[in-house]
Amino acid sequence: MEIPKQGRNKQDLLQAMQTAKAGDTDWLQGKTWSLQYYIDEEHHELLKEAHQLYFSENYINPFLFKSILKMEKEVVAMVADMLHGPESVVGTMTSGGTESILLAMYACREWARKHKPSIKHPEIVAPRTIHPAFDKAAHYFGFSLRKAQVLPTQEADMVAMEKLISKDTILLLASAPSFAHGVLDPIPVIGQLAEKHGLLFHVDACVGGFMLPWVEKLGRELPEWDFRVPAVTSMSGDLHKFGFGAKGASVVLYRHTGLFEHQIFVNTEYSGGIFATATLLGTRPGGSVAAAWAGLQHLGQAGYLKNAKAMLDATDQLRADLEAIPEIEIIGKPCMNILAYSTKKNQPDIYVVADFMEQKGWVVDRQQLPPSVHLTVFPYNIPVIGKYVEDLKAAIEWAKANPSASGEGNAAMYGLMARIPLRGMVKDNVRKVFLDTYGKGLGSEPPVAEQEKKSPKWMGRLNRVLAWLTRWGA
Ligand SMILES: Cc1ncc(COP(=O)(O)O)c(C=O)c1O
Repeated sequence: MEIPKQGRNKQDLLQAMQTAKAGDTDWLQGKTWSLQYYIDEEHHELLKEAHQLYFSENYINPFLFKSILKMEKEVVAMVADMLHGPESVVGTMTSGGTESILLAMYACREWARKHKPSIKHPEIVAPRTIHPAFDKAAHYFGFSLRKAQVLPTQEADMVAMEKLISKDTILLLASAPSFAHGVLDPIPVIGQLAEKHGLLFHVDACVGGFMLPWVEKLGRELPEWDFRVPAVTSMSGDLHKFGFGAKGASVVLYRHTGLFEHQIFVNTEYSGGIFATATLLGTRPGGSVAAAWAGLQHLGQAGYLKNAKAMLDATDQLRADLEAIPEIEIIGKPCMNILAYSTKKNQPDIYVVADFMEQKGWVVDRQQLPPSVHLTVFPYNIPVIGKYVEDLKAAIEWAKANPSASGEGNAAMYGLMARIPLRGMVKDNVRKVFLDTYGKGLGSEPPVAEQEKKSPKWMGRLNRVLAWLTRWGA
């Protein structure tokens, strides 16, 4: 495929895109239970207009766009206040939860490198339910993420976590709450562990940061989960989730400037002049900062509270309806408008139930460890909750009557993946799906010099050491 030789007509193009888009998931119908954070058309339009106003601005240089910088600083300050940050809390907006987490993990690693130089291979200890963005950080930045088993309630188990702490541990992690089950980790308890062992402590509030404050204000009791816990040294919270901003907006916060400073990158040797950024991106969209700021201002605390109440009440209703189905059990103790359910002792097979629900048009988020189905309740799901429960009851009856369906279709595949001991095999296959999608399925490698191919591994290492010594000598 090549770029068209001549430009295409605007109307035709937009029409073609509308037609193509019509085949995508129609999430506003309420059949999707994750990913799409949306309140209503009025709020959506405001986000679009605010985004549009800064559509062209390249926020790589905050000093060129003082109005965006002002909005970013205000957003950071408002979020720090919401999360009970003391005066010392600092941070930035980022493009999303993953960027916030990558930056926080990098800053913690660099801080430890400076202040705990005896640690050569930094380790992080987390409950098994922590979001994969932390595995990604470990993958990119070369540290070990050690995962502890969780309690049957899916909460972090501090005894299991403590067992994994070693002389190389720099940081503990916890979720407020976990995405998969909506379960809040016991953050005050993990905080005590961090204090006892002199460790940093990051709380991932990407999904809950903009819900739990209202959960508490609505009188639902939670253990403290944010900067009120003195051991918490950094946090991530996403504006593009329940902050109801536009996509591409999150906040990373640090209790101390001494941690934050490691996030800032400065290069004084670049031929284009001094190059410095406070976040991971180079070119930065101003629109997502503007939309997040406008969203916060427009909703105000009263707006967040009102929406949170509607979503929580609906979740209570859904939960009660699910619990009334004898075969169903809720996983753990969800603390907000996220829950996961399974069938008791997997009878009937939850993945067969999931397949039936999918045939009924529901978008089903199948989970593993344990096998379950995820539901986040958004305002647009509220009108269809009754229908969902009705279809679920039918799905259970069908699965009970058709036990052999466990060995067929998606149910068989998910069942196998949930049980398979060779996770490496699953990993290779999933990677292949991406390679087939983006990489044309062709296997090609960059060239390797002939002598490299022939020489044993130790020779390569020796050559690298020699090259380094020569450079150093020079
Ligand atoms: C708890 C938690 N942490 C981190 C992330 C990663 O956020 P993002 O998808 O914005 O990169 C998510 C996303 O769902 C999440 O729920």
